[in-house]
Amino acid sequence: MTDSVKLKIDGKEITAKAGQTILQAAAMAGIYIPHLCAHRELEPWGSCRVCTVKVNGRPQAACTQPVAEGAVVESETPELVNVRRALVEMLFVEGNHVCPSCEKSGNCELQATAYRLGIAAPRFPYTFPKREIDASHPDIILERNRCILCARCVRASTEVDGKHAFDFVGRGVHKRIAVNAEAGLAGTSAAATDKALSVCPVGCLMKKRVGFAVPVGQRQFDEKQIGSEI
Ligand code: FES
Repeated sequence: MTDSVKLKIDGKEITAKAGQTILQAAAMAGIYIPHLCAHRELEPWGSCRVCTVKVNGRPQAACTQPVAEGAVVESETPELVNVRRALVEMLFVEGNHVCPSCEKSGNCELQATAYRLGIAAPRFPYTFPKREIDASHPDIILERNRCILCARCVRASTEVDGKHAFDFVGRGVHKRIAVNAEAGLAGTSAAATDKALSVCPVGCLMKKRVGFAVPVGQRQFDEKQIGSEI
């Protein structure tokens, strides 16, 4: 078996390593495919579908689909951009995302992805769900209103931190991020230095007492559009 695979993404021929996902191969070739649940330090998950591409004409999640010799991948087509827009808009209306008052603004991958996709306002009605905030931990706040159910914290806490402090409960619209202790986050072994916090793409899991350490307007995605450095 050969170690390298040639495929095309939006007409550009790239060489990937066998076993890589399309998302990984694209990143190595300097091609940005929008994504939210995927994180380069975590195992692929495939839940948000923001990375949807077409492979030989069929929709696939780029973060879980392995590269294949001769594959023709479409990513930045009007159809797929519209699919991603709809998915991101749904994430906005399914939670309570108040960007101007969120400490993550400017560093938030959901907000930055929306900007990159040209979303001005969601086409769907807001659902305004009632979600609990867990501020019991001395150093961490769990703000479920901003959760997009990407499972990065679940995976990082288990795969990297070795704590399994987070998981999901409920189904469908009732699905919520939960903590592994009846007493709430304070009852877990989660710490502010955990990978689970640093990989949260939104303002759901945040350190306490560090608000506005970097002024709004000078943050990661204030300076550069998401995907401009991959
Ligand atoms: Fe691929 Fe979420 S990034 S499904």
